[in-house]
Amino acid sequence: MKMVIGISGASGAIYAQRLLAALKPSGHDISLTASENALQIGQEEAGIDYRECGFPFFTPRDFTAPFASGSARYDVLAIVPCSMGTLGRIAHGLSDDLLSRTADVFFKERRKIILVPRETPLSLIHIENMRLVTLAGATVIPAIPSFYSKPKTIEEAVDTVVARILDHMGVENNLRPRYGV
Ligand SMILES: Cc1cc2nc3c(=O)[nH]c(=O)nc-3n(C[C@H](O)[C@H](O)[C@H](O)COP(=O)(O)O)c2cc1C
Repeated sequence: MKMVIGISGASGAIYAQRLLAALKPSGHDISLTASENALQIGQEEAGIDYRECGFPFFTPRDFTAPFASGSARYDVLAIVPCSMGTLGRIAHGLSDDLLSRTADVFFKERRKIILVPRETPLSLIHIENMRLVTLAGATVIPAIPSFYSKPKTIEEAVDTVVARILDHMGVENNLRPRYGV
């Protein structure tokens, strides 16, 4: 599959870091884009530079990225984490940076979109924007870990979310034990 991973400036860089680590050996064709805020938060929270992760990287202003056009064939867009700012821009079709333009393209081409917000508590504006993107066909997977697999480290707790993201992307994984298996 051809996939775009978008990273925006919510807290939770570790979710992006763990997702990219899981995708690396998957053999899928992965492209990356991250907002300026995400680049900064990636460094501060996780010591990660998304520009040097071994995937093709496109800056927020680079509208020459192939996935900025519907004519290039892609399968999945996942935005991890998705800030409420980016969610709002996407929900209202602003398309003013590569991330929101890519979401706009994936919506119009009826492609798979996964958004992983991390914010608490939620305002009515957040909830309405999540409702809008859900109605438009996106899947909202909040960055809310589960605990029935008894995670012992932050990474294991984070992976309970990353595993659900991978499942919805259609990427085989055994990151966490599955319930009842
Ligand atoms: C200290 C700090 C923490 C933040 N944490 C979050 C967060 O967890 N979730 C969120 O949606 N926004 C958070 N924000 C707000 C986003 O960084 C802000 O909306 C920014 O404009 C997002 O830009 P981007 O979506 O282009 O990356 C935080 C901002 C700051 C300064």
